[in-house]
Amino acid sequence: MKSNEPFLTPARTLDGTALAAGLRADVARRAQVLAARWRPPALAVLLVGDAQASAVYVRNKIRACEAAGVRSIHEHLPGATSQPALLARIAELNADPLVDGILVQLPLPPQIDPQQVIAAIAPDKDVDGFHVANAGALFTGAPRLMPCTPSGVMRMLDHTGVTLRGAEAVIVGASNIVGKPQAILLLHAGATVTICNSKTRDLAAHTRRADILVVAVGRAKMIGADMVKPGAVVIDVGMNRDEHGRLCGDVDTEAVRAVAGWITPVPGGVGPMTIAMLLENTLQAAQARAPVDATTR
Ligand code: GUN
Repeated sequence: MKSNEPFLTPARTLDGTALAAGLRADVARRAQVLAARWRPPALAVLLVGDAQASAVYVRNKIRACEAAGVRSIHEHLPGATSQPALLARIAELNADPLVDGILVQLPLPPQIDPQQVIAAIAPDKDVDGFHVANAGALFTGAPRLMPCTPSGVMRMLDHTGVTLRGAEAVIVGASNIVGKPQAILLLHAGATVTICNSKTRDLAAHTRRADILVVAVGRAKMIGADMVKPGAVVIDVGMNRDEHGRLCGDVDTEAVRAVAGWITPVPGGVGPMTIAMLLENTLQAAQARAPVDATTR
């Protein structure tokens, strides 16, 4: 990668909406074949409580299912739902032969321990890829169902054509949902990976070395142009509101565009890819349950 050359042109946009549309069309085609030979893939989406952002995310996931021919079972449970009640519902869905995937939208209300909920989902229906069995499979290099956002980011990196082998990849944010699995995927792709967290001293010293910079922190516009290496691929996983109430990422997109080689917009970047990968995971889970002669690649 010739990443030390000054970039005189603004960054190219990694259009997640367009990329995701292609992936969703492919899922729709394969879901249709599966439906004709067996039955459509089915995803149960559980939302507990009334958090507005979660409701929007869930609605987008349900709509994407409908458009791709994936049957969705949307369950909206009261915010006061007890942990035993939620675990009992998950047990029913685990045992239901007509359900291929189970997604419990996070965050959960304070009376519910998310770790226990994730542990209760059957690993072969865990389309979020959060269960320790799936996290461990990813960690050891034999991935099964993989977390949607990091695998969507890998598809975006694929699209750039940038070589990952030997590249310096820096991830800002060390969550179980994004940062940690992203690091493993980049490591397996041959990148040299640094994970930064809220305690990191001199964050900019790390981010400025990155050929690939993935930011998943949840702090509006925290990455400025002076923190980015010329020509870098900048992937913005953040979804925040700026001082005017507009959606924005963790990257100051307009400023960084002048320095980076590629950049993801917010909205329309990583978000649509996450949903596309959820559909792929649901199809994969369904295909794993289907009779062998009903599946298609
Ligand atoms: N909340 C924010 N991101 C996610 C996600 O990828 N899956 C679930 N279940 N909840 C989330």
